[in-house]
Amino acid sequence: MTDNVDLSVSLSGVLWKNPVTTASGTFASGKEHSEFIDISRLGAVTVKGVSPVPWQGNPPPRVAETFGGMLNAIGLENPGVDAFIRNDLPFLRGYNTNIIVNVCGHSLNEYLTVIERLAQTDADMLELNISCPNISAGGMAFGTDPKLTYETVRACKTKARQPLYVKLSPNVTSITEIARAAEAGGADGLSLINTLLGMRIDIETRAPILGNKTGGLSGPAILPVALRMVYQVYEAVKIPIIGMGGIMTGADAIEFMLAGASAVAVGTAGLIDPVAPLRVIQGIAEYLTAHGYKNPAEIVGAAH
Ligand SMILES: Cc1cc2nc3c(=O)[nH]c(=O)nc-3n(C[C@H](O)[C@H](O)[C@H](O)COP(=O)(O)O)c2cc1C
Repeated sequence: MTDNVDLSVSLSGVLWKNPVTTASGTFASGKEHSEFIDISRLGAVTVKGVSPVPWQGNPPPRVAETFGGMLNAIGLENPGVDAFIRNDLPFLRGYNTNIIVNVCGHSLNEYLTVIERLAQTDADMLELNISCPNISAGGMAFGTDPKLTYETVRACKTKARQPLYVKLSPNVTSITEIARAAEAGGADGLSLINTLLGMRIDIETRAPILGNKTGGLSGPAILPVALRMVYQVYEAVKIPIIGMGGIMTGADAIEFMLAGASAVAVGTAGLIDPVAPLRVIQGIAEYLTAHGYKNPAEIVGAAH
């Protein structure tokens, strides 16, 4: 029985029917997933990174399996913001959910171009990707230096019409320093974590498996690291957090909420089983019901 639970959450004034979204890059534009799940049941969909012009991405192989997770080095292949607005946005608008657009760029001007174009659309929220480990210029370089984080977020905030969430990289010494810099720059919220930089080597060819040599580690293997970072960031900032990193079940999502996440994103789990985000929603509802809570907000940060 989960009927007595109101799963809705409000993030920076945007009402979600439940606290679960897809993690950027694992849901594409949603078209493939729409064959398996009713997208309208999600609190939000977060789409893959969108750049000002089409990006080709990295040479193959782009993914490698590893124990408890996977490595990817897609390199943010995408059709560019104009094609996204023309094709993907209207498709997703056909569903009753919020649309979060992940914004990427090689330079500050590229981020600003995408944000200005999206300001003219009905996208609900923006997620500034200053944390991609798989591109040669931009990406993670912005999210691993507090000063650059602050300046990038501040400039992007002046152009953003929608709430601006900043996606943080775990590949830093102090996640709280970067989180505070993003908050000081005007971020409305934070998404964390992006993938952890990793690699694998083929022992027969004696060469790195990924075409890009290194890639980003995701999946259950990174959950404890992600959880620790959400816990620390919750104590460092006042803005809301969307937590992610290895969430497979409702119980995993509850851990993130207890650590301080107002909402969660499901990534790699959805690549294994497209229905995973719906199972996570159900698991959250069951936990809240079993423990007598009326709304997810009641448990956010309860582990502190
Ligand atoms: C294949 C793949 C592509 C991804 N593409 C993006 C992306 O375009 N932008 C982004 O911010 N994060 C991207 N990510 C990172 C995820 O959004 C997420 O932060 C990370 O995978 C941790 O969550 P998970 O363990 O549930 O997958 C990608 C991850 C994977 C596995």
